[in-house]
Amino acid sequence: MDAPWIAVSTPEAIAPGKFIKVTLAQRAYLIANVNGQFYAVEDNCSHEDYPLSFGCLDGAQIKCSLHGSRFSLETGAPLDAPAEMPICIYPVRIAEGQVWLDPTAMMQ
Ligand code: FES
Repeated sequence: MDAPWIAVSTPEAIAPGKFIKVTLAQRAYLIANVNGQFYAVEDNCSHEDYPLSFGCLDGAQIKCSLHGSRFSLETGAPLDAPAEMPICIYPVRIAEGQVWLDPTAMMQ
């Protein structure tokens, strides 16, 4: 797959209900597997710039471990206070036996 897509893992390395953290060009991302659907989001809570990788998955949501806000992995939207701003989400694809991330195509 051509740039800007970057292979970040194999699908088998991310079990359903789990996520991994990857760092590209000094930016951290979470790649999550929700029942075979893969999502990519920034590893940064929009509330106080805290790593979401310290939190946990709840279905297609990631919960921040610092103050408890949950974010949709599908839209990046905050689902609970105190966070009010969305997190960045990124396109992710499965192809050629790899999980691919496009870190240039930020979506909110
Ligand atoms: S830092 Fe994540 S909810 Fe406060």
